[in-house]
Amino acid sequence: MTIRSSLVLGFPEGEIQGRAMAGAAGLPYAGVGIHRFPDGESRVRLPPALPERVVLYRGMDRPNEKLFELVLTAATARDLGVRHLTLVAPYLCYMRQDTAFVPGEAVSQRVLGTLLADWFDTLVTVDPHLHRVPSLADAIPVQRAVALSAAGPMAEFLATHLENPLVLGPDSESLQWVAAVAAVQGLDYGVARKERLGDREVRIALPELDVLGRSVVLLDDVVSTGGTLIATAQALKPLDPAAISVLATHGLFCDGALGRMAEAGITQVWTSDSVPHPTNRVNLAHLLADALDA
Ligand code: R5P
Repeated sequence: MTIRSSLVLGFPEGEIQGRAMAGAAGLPYAGVGIHRFPDGESRVRLPPALPERVVLYRGMDRPNEKLFELVLTAATARDLGVRHLTLVAPYLCYMRQDTAFVPGEAVSQRVLGTLLADWFDTLVTVDPHLHRVPSLADAIPVQRAVALSAAGPMAEFLATHLENPLVLGPDSESLQWVAAVAAVQGLDYGVARKERLGDREVRIALPELDVLGRSVVLLDDVVSTGGTLIATAQALKPLDPAAISVLATHGLFCDGALGRMAEAGITQVWTSDSVPHPTNRVNLAHLLADALDA
């Protein structure tokens, strides 16, 4: 790792995670002050003296407000003389809308890519949800685009928490993570087939796997409404697994997802700290710090 950045700047909601990454990278940390005015506008305040190279740490869940604050911060950093700006966004928003599914729809991923490339030299993220676009660099045309995977830290976590679980992904896209996590301990694994019926509703067809009496870990990149994992758990239940747990990189947990997941028979939920949440068990600080070149 060659680190020439001299400062990590973080935001209030991710201070613990930003400080942890800065610590792992051996860099100092300072906070960006955010004030929300009664009318909904944000005032952004940076330390007035900045080094030439700066890393901004901000997870981009619930992104709409955060995005404009990010632009205000990046623009001000440039005004203050920063020449090289890295964005570490462990969760990267707007990755799903990578095409106009209906004429007239915004291709949000491309718009976000242009916006970030206008302000940042480097982007570091984790398990970005890339569908039809082959690589992160194609989606976000910054000079250096780094897509890390949480599979390594997730496999380490699993090795110390469950004995010989069966790892199950809810759809074909999850195979990349499921196979990587299972390979570390040689665990049994499989992936289901998913048909999306709406924002909150999916249909799941399980693969041929003997789950009777097994501890099953559902593994996915994102939990949003929880609909995908709930449908998977509902399909599993009649097959009498010993337990159903969830391990996911990004836990967004919209609309009371956790409660509905528990009702569906999911007994434990673990996530990485890409999105700060009480379910965070997998820390990404070292993974992110090792990817900094700035
Ligand atoms: C989609 O392909 C992703 O990998 C996740 O399965 C999906 O985003 C989860 O969304 P939800 O929790 O709303 O079903």
